[in-house]
Amino acid sequence: MSDTAEITTTTGPVTRKRRTTVAGNGKQANGAKWQEAGEKPPQRAAKGKMEQVPLKGDKNNINIVFCCSCHTLQESLLSSASGYSNYRGILNWCVVMLVLSNARLFLENIIKYGILVDPIQVVSLFLKDPYSWPSACLIIVSNVFILAALYIERRLAVGTISDTTGRILHMFNLTALLVFPSSTVLTLTSMTPVGGVLSLAIYTILFLKLYSYQDTNRWNREIRLAKSNGSAVHSIVSYPGNLTHRDMYYFVFAPTLCYQLNFPRSPRIRKRFLLRRLFEMVRRIQCMNSALWWVVPTVQNSMKPFKEMDFSRMVERLLKLAVPNHLIWLIFFYWFFHSTLNFVAELLQFGDREFYRDWWNSETVTYFWANWNIPVHKWCLRHFYKPMLKKGVNKFLAQTAVFLVSAFFHEYLVSIPLKMFRLWAFMGMMFQVPLAWFVGRYLNGIYGNAAVWMSLIIGQPVAVLMYVHDYYVTHYGGPT
Ligand SMILES: CC(C)(COP(=O)(O)OP(=O)(O)OC[C@H]1O[C@@H](n2cnc3c(N)ncnc32)[C@H](O)[C@@H]1OP(=O)(O)O)[C@@H](O)C(=O)NCCC(=O)NCCS
Repeated sequence: MSDTAEITTTTGPVTRKRRTTVAGNGKQANGAKWQEAGEKPPQRAAKGKMEQVPLKGDKNNINIVFCCSCHTLQESLLSSASGYSNYRGILNWCVVMLVLSNARLFLENIIKYGILVDPIQVVSLFLKDPYSWPSACLIIVSNVFILAALYIERRLAVGTISDTTGRILHMFNLTALLVFPSSTVLTLTSMTPVGGVLSLAIYTILFLKLYSYQDTNRWNREIRLAKSNGSAVHSIVSYPGNLTHRDMYYFVFAPTLCYQLNFPRSPRIRKRFLLRRLFEMVRRIQCMNSALWWVVPTVQNSMKPFKEMDFSRMVERLLKLAVPNHLIWLIFFYWFFHSTLNFVAELLQFGDREFYRDWWNSETVTYFWANWNIPVHKWCLRHFYKPMLKKGVNKFLAQTAVFLVSAFFHEYLVSIPLKMFRLWAFMGMMFQVPLAWFVGRYLNGIYGNAAVWMSLIIGQPVAVLMYVHDYYVTHYGGPT
């Protein structure tokens, strides 16, 4: 038995114990890495005679060896050469520091301004008049467009209308789906901005869903035509058996924007999973509400420097707003993409739960946009980007076109409810194209990742402040 082997046996447990305290996992330790990689651990330097060949079973000898050789050739854990990667404790430390450093600001706001978001105020965000519910009525009316799409598809399936007529009718239905709610929001004085955003968001989702519905059914008709036996797809439901109210409303409520004939289904509803998601949804709403206490005074206090164009104070306000704004965005991400969409999916036994991917590791802007909102990204790829590429449009133009459409919808969702056309959201989205080019070209690795985080942390509050400032100026004659 070699010297090294003997020493490894005798000192092994002691070494592992020490590393467990630090890393929580002995496998991260340097020596283990060499073993895992199948490499030979580096030979220790000669340490004198007593290290050599202790007699087996001789406890005294083993102790002497251990006492005399307490060093091995190894890197410090924080050196990249150590191969160590378990930073869980440091991540927790960051969270604790973040909470502690911001708790003071949070408290200061409550002491200075009191609790700014009370339940009555929250209700008034949605309703101006308790007897008038314009956004709820608008949402109920959306059923007309859903049923119209279904009936057009049924006519197309039996051949009572031609493909071209069907297309025209669908385009008419889809255009109305965008024009009708926007004109209602613009003309109804009883509509609040938040009610407007909510109803327009639902109509936009329906627009994307019904576009996908007509596209997919058309593809299925083409497949049916191509097949002599008339059966379109080898699945549980085949075209046109899918053109039912049940199937249509399942799709309308399912957490996806892309239609298909047979969605993957989970075998049963897991009640504990459902309750956990419900609990998370309630908790996250509370968290967002609390973070708003922090944002409201910061935004209000930002108005004066913006009016006076006091640049250094503007930057200071912007940076102050960046942290709570970013926290709200992160909580919103978890609340919507994890808790809410999983809750709905579980309830409907919808099997595809890929609502987001690891966008937090994005090293490029394009990676971020392709991974943070998977339902929208899938729709963009399936119904817009890939069809354009197939028609021979070049990749850069196709990507720019996708961002153009996305920018249009961002602006649509902000400008119309605020009744204010400023194009900040549009420009913010279009700015992603040169930013993506710049980050992709000049930054990579952690620098690229830091650039993505910076654009998220700083970019959003810029847009928020622009809109709030313009809203104040338009509605209250300028900040005081
Ligand atoms: C524009 C956008 C669709 C590009 O996505 P991307 O993943 O970076 O695009 P890529 O060029 O890498 O390719 C995507 C797909 O197209 C395919 N593709 C690429 N070039 C192709 C070509 N010439 N012909 C056919 N297919 C092609 C790829 O194989 C890939 O297919 P896969 O998804 O099956 O693997 C994406 O950035 C996006 O969704 N942007 C908008 C996001 C948005 O606005 N979200 C709003 C959230 S609020």
